Amino acid sequence: EKAGFEHFMMKEIHEQPKAIRDTINSVVRDGKIDLSGVGITEEEIQKLQQIYIVACGSAYHVGVAAQYVIEELAQIPVRVELASEFRYRRMLFAPNSLVIIVSQSGETADSLAALREAKAHGVKTLAIVNVVGSTIAREADHVFYTLAGPEIAVATTKAYSTQLIASYILSIEFARVRGMIDEDRAAELIAELQTIPDKIEKLLEDKERIQWFAAKQMNAQNMFFIGRGIDYAVSLEGSLKMKEISYIHSEAYAAGELKHGTISLIEPGTLVIGVLTQQDLYEKTVSNMVECKSRGAYLMALTTYGNYSIEDCAEFVIYIPKTDPLFAASLAVIPLQLMGYYVSVAKGLDVDKPRNLAKSVTVE
Ligand code: M6R
Repeated sequence: EKAGFEHFMMKEIHEQPKAIRDTINSVVRDGKIDLSGVGITEEEIQKLQQIYIVACGSAYHVGVAAQYVIEELAQIPVRVELASEFRYRRMLFAPNSLVIIVSQSGETADSLAALREAKAHGVKTLAIVNVVGSTIAREADHVFYTLAGPEIAVATTKAYSTQLIASYILSIEFARVRGMIDEDRAAELIAELQTIPDKIEKLLEDKERIQWFAAKQMNAQNMFFIGRGIDYAVSLEGSLKMKEISYIHSEAYAAGELKHGTISLIEPGTLVIGVLTQQDLYEKTVSNMVECKSRGAYLMALTTYGNYSIEDCAEFVIYIPKTDPLFAASLAVIPLQLMGYYVSVAKGLDVDKPRNLAKSVTVE
């Protein structure tokens, strides 16, 4: 059932290209997005004034990335909220709001409660869900199903990746319907989306290099993942993968925020992983990495082919294929999933079933 892989997590990492293709194909016909199955109408999209993305864990990290993409493309203000916080806040919804709930299982207690709160306030809801017929899918006004297939490993990989894709598709369609991008730009972005599975396959070919590097980190006490914008969103996910299955304490930090406190934790040899896929923020994050290095940090970088100057400061570099910067999270996350996986394997831990965790958190 693991299809020749040692763990479900590795099998699911390799299923990502197919899961993404299937998810794209479910809503793209002849190069055009068709959301009739999701149920949200053009009229509803036109009226939107505010979007809330509400989720837990990795699904929340999808929201953090999606916020940048929606605001950039569709120019609708977005707030991203942890479901466990959102549900207990005073609800001050702007008129014509949409609440997007992101959940693999569709059963996460806090996400479900947040959905119900939003509905009780008369706000429209759209769920991005993987499990067909789950409670969140049944109760939301609109459902965008990710076609990741069953995900067994507690650490999510393919569900996360398909949730990102769903959020890009919504962003492109919202932008097109609202006249923020024209048909040609929409077609171009969809075509770019369709190249992502092949690019992930290419990244997976490099996994032995990551395995070699990861094995050297197994005794680390602390790690830091830093980035800006979408790279910050990827850092959050990379850091969670690491903590969840390798039991190494790690923090994800917005690169510019480090010097407001956390940089005091950097000691000689501390691993700092910089994520640098956003060209306009590249120099800024490099300078934050150099600040860490001058305090003794050991630097790994994840950047796009072409940014070879990173080798002046980083000891270990992984290059990712070029794509539209808005979609870079889909590629940058792959090496970080592999890092978490291989550190866990090197430590001999139970990769698929980490201690203290459940696949689906149905209690508050
Ligand atoms: O089923 P959901 O997507 O609602 O689950 C949300 C989180 O519990 C989940 O993403 C969790 O953080 C993962 N184990 C992370 O790998």
